[in-house]
Amino acid sequence: MSYPYQIKSIEQYHEDYKKSIEDPEGFWSKIAENFQWRKKWDTVLNWNFTEPKVEWFAGAKLNITENCIDRHLPSMANKPAIIWEPNNPEERTRTVTYARLHKRVCQFAQVLKNNGVKKGDRVCIYMGMVPELAYAVLGCARIGAIHSVIFGGFSAQSIADRLDDASVEYIITCDGAFRGGKDIPLKSIIDDALIGNKTVKRVIVYTRTRIPVSMIKGRDVWWEDEMLHAEDQLEHNGVIDFPAEIMDAEDPLFISYTSGRTGKPKGVVHSSAGYMLWTNYTFVNVFQYKPGDVFFCTADIGWITGHSYIVYGPLSAGGTSLMFEGIPTWPDAGRFWDIIDKYKVNILYTAPTAIRSLMSYGLDPLKGKDLSSLRVLGTVGEPINEEAWHWYDEHIGKKKCPIVDTWWQTETGGILISNLAGITPAKPGWATLPMPGVQPVLVDEQGAPSISPEGEALTKGNLCISLPWPGMLRTTWGDHERCRTNYFATYENLYFTGDGALKNEEGFYRITGRVDDVLNVSGHRIGTAEVENAINMHAGVVESAVVGYPHDVKGQGIYAYVIMSQKHGDDEQSKKDILQTVTRVIGAIAKPDKIQFVTGLPKTRSGKIMRRILRKIAEGEMQNLGDTTTLLDPGVVEEIKKGKL
Ligand code: WTA
Repeated sequence: MSYPYQIKSIEQYHEDYKKSIEDPEGFWSKIAENFQWRKKWDTVLNWNFTEPKVEWFAGAKLNITENCIDRHLPSMANKPAIIWEPNNPEERTRTVTYARLHKRVCQFAQVLKNNGVKKGDRVCIYMGMVPELAYAVLGCARIGAIHSVIFGGFSAQSIADRLDDASVEYIITCDGAFRGGKDIPLKSIIDDALIGNKTVKRVIVYTRTRIPVSMIKGRDVWWEDEMLHAEDQLEHNGVIDFPAEIMDAEDPLFISYTSGRTGKPKGVVHSSAGYMLWTNYTFVNVFQYKPGDVFFCTADIGWITGHSYIVYGPLSAGGTSLMFEGIPTWPDAGRFWDIIDKYKVNILYTAPTAIRSLMSYGLDPLKGKDLSSLRVLGTVGEPINEEAWHWYDEHIGKKKCPIVDTWWQTETGGILISNLAGITPAKPGWATLPMPGVQPVLVDEQGAPSISPEGEALTKGNLCISLPWPGMLRTTWGDHERCRTNYFATYENLYFTGDGALKNEEGFYRITGRVDDVLNVSGHRIGTAEVENAINMHAGVVESAVVGYPHDVKGQGIYAYVIMSQKHGDDEQSKKDILQTVTRVIGAIAKPDKIQFVTGLPKTRSGKIMRRILRKIAEGEMQNLGDTTTLLDPGVVEEIKKGKL
């Protein structure tokens, strides 16, 4: 595999960037020539941001799994596609070659077919990080079913909402998952999610932990039995193949649910061809991937980072993707370093929160670990503080590895702003330059282009993108209007990211964080409205307001102000009950770090909660709360200040 579109110098970056903006169609169609199509496109790009409508390579036919697997077989059948490290370091590891991946994905596609799955059907995947998760994802793509992977940390209620939203008919799960010292009873959570569900016809269960599960007759089947049967059906003279469904470039590939300003997570829909190009192009360029490199992305496939940089990016590039079942601190805080040493990892891609957490264990866990194979380091998911950046640089990269700070979102499909490893300069805390094809714009609240104040080098504003790029979302599932109002209605003709940013004289961007009511807790996106809704479900709660505050390890912590009814006490037990409610409604990842009971919330006369004040107090800022005279009852502010945790 070679990558003729891999950027090799800063001059080439500037040249390619210029071309991509002046002639996006010419630029991307040339790159698209490097992929395998069943039929080439009629048009490269049709778009308007008012509807919005975005189509890349309309008229083209392809299947993404032929690009991720089949086309590599002639030259790389025996090269590792996936290397799997189990949760327990004592357990046998697995190496999945491209030939094996092809076989398993074909088999699983047949399993899906045998169970009635057809092109366009929605399949929910709720599994731990085992290679079978990748087979499930790719098996869906092979037959053209739309996968929706749900992170193992979400509760039955969250799953039920997602199943409902996408009218899911098929589920793929495991009996359980191993994560650190815990076993998560996935199948049992699915069973809870299915109480009252009317659409799901089939649940396919892969055996991982062997905890007891209840298999419902007529609905639940075992993965292993199904795979054996499919193998028998497909085998012809020792060869197994399942013809890939031929998809339109714009057919949806998957749905990924993510939090926004409103209470209900939305299903971000990605396309086939554009998404493929984008994950491949950004993977090859940002990380400067070289054939043979071992690439270790520590995300979970339940999140977009895992979709794009464990599965589709690396595999479409014929790369070797390391998949890890466990967590960075189990059995001890040296686990990542052991893995890097064991597999001679070349590129490590992780989240600032993981770096900060590992930093807190000091340097002992690094002793005796050979990290010399590392060539490139990356971060994603949240702003990286300089202290963590320098620790990563010094102790992990030994000052020899470029660090790429990659800014992107579930909606963007892949990286939009990042330095290119060793090619364009890095600057701690700065995502730096946009990828070719990406045109960022900073605007003020009214949508006017931000201008740097006289004598100042920095421009500050809300981050928007003015041109479509191939990997962008196409819609939100079942509700296109929601996609429009969320992303395209705030500012005319611009995609609005929800993030604030700074731009310096060199044209580098620094992402300062969300400007909407979305929190970023340990790199996970959580809407404050979503957490409030969950808290308010507790019988004793009258009202609540949730804000973020700076947290040393998580980046942001969740601070909840809660008014309890008089009948219910505001004691420790009530706090525990609220935490349990949030765990039930969303999942443990959304549990507030702090709950402060209050008797009132600062509201304007029109009844709007003044979050700005609550945020400042949660941050420990007791002075300069701004004008509080417009409040209905300015007295509550004093009370809240006194009770701050
Ligand atoms: C934040 C994860 C600063 C940002 C891929 C964005 C970042 C949200 C960075 C998307 C970064 C992501 N620097 N902030 N390098 N990367 N973010 O959808 O606020 O889970 O809007 O996608 O994470 O989170 P999501």
